[in-house]
Amino acid sequence: MAKFALISDPHITVPNPETGWMLREPVPNEPTMYAHSVELLEQAIAEINAIPEIDFVVCAGDLTKDSEPYNHDCVRELLSRFRAPVFCVPGNHDQPRPPQLRPPELLDPSVRPLRTEELPWLYRDFGFQQGDILAFSCDPTPDVHLVGLCSAKPNDDRGYIPPQTLAWLEHDLSHQRDPERHTIVLLHHSIVEHVPNERIDPTFSWFHVENSDALKSVLQRHRVKITLSGHLHIQDIKQEAGLYNIVTASLAGYPHAYRVFSLEGNELHVESRRLESIPSIPNLQEYSRAYTSETFVQIIAQSLQKPPFELSETQALETAKRLRDWWPTIAEGDERFSYAAEELGSAALAAYVNSFTDSDPPDNDCVLVL
Ligand SMILES: [Fe+2]
Ligand SMILES: [Fe+2]
Repeated sequence: MAKFALISDPHITVPNPETGWMLREPVPNEPTMYAHSVELLEQAIAEINAIPEIDFVVCAGDLTKDSEPYNHDCVRELLSRFRAPVFCVPGNHDQPRPPQLRPPELLDPSVRPLRTEELPWLYRDFGFQQGDILAFSCDPTPDVHLVGLCSAKPNDDRGYIPPQTLAWLEHDLSHQRDPERHTIVLLHHSIVEHVPNERIDPTFSWFHVENSDALKSVLQRHRVKITLSGHLHIQDIKQEAGLYNIVTASLAGYPHAYRVFSLEGNELHVESRRLESIPSIPNLQEYSRAYTSETFVQIIAQSLQKPPFELSETQALETAKRLRDWWPTIAEGDERFSYAAEELGSAALAAYVNSFTDSDPPDNDCVLVL
């Protein structure tokens, strides 16, 4: 029996301690609440520390806004406040962000962002043991073998597992001989599709590990059943050939969810909880859903003007307003959609948005048989 908590994508953002530089919000086309990120993680720490018998805590990446050294200092200090041991991996935001990924006005001009290769030594209290390999493994309880993999690809938002990491993983898993011990793999990007055509649709392919087939063949060869990731900022669980990929939302964005797992024999009990309130935003859920809806009206309006729908600017904005609840509902998990063609002015668009209706297993509270 093991009990552990998962948080993801805290995106810690504080003012530069030397210059005072701070990201200006709102960030166009991005609902992440960077300015409240410290308060949100502090709330999660307080809640998880109050849960009895948590053996360990894992964090699935995007620890910082854009890998600023002072944000890494802050997140390490915050993670050290958990009562239980913490294990984390970096995400695509924990590396330098070139202009095609991040407009320069959103980046602190006076810092050199840390590269993924520099992070293992920095996070040596949070799982990493060797500075020269972008992965770690440990046994936090007698029945869990935990593996952390860095999946961020340099100069890209997509995921990638380098050949040397795959070779390390093969070697690590080949030494796991105890049938009573479950391996849990933690990484930032997804390895099973969570939205339609995730691997090939350019809108979503940056969610995914580019060489996920190579990674999955190693995991399946060694009968790994549980993988945990973040990055999509949604609650979603999918299964492929007995391999579960459990995606957890960002603490810094709606629905501000985290998970509590109990591993009991061959069952993984999944419980999802949400941050309901922080001191500066007492009605966090209501405020954040509205903020996310408004941001996505703009995102959807822009994409509806492009192929395949190519609506006029006015039509696109009108239609996007009717879809204001669509992405926040996806983020909550267990989503069901039945938009009518007449409502959206297009049968093809209605079919597309309805195709995001969730399939089994449930996304929030469930028991997964391993
Ligand atoms: Fe993120
Ligand atoms: Fe990410």
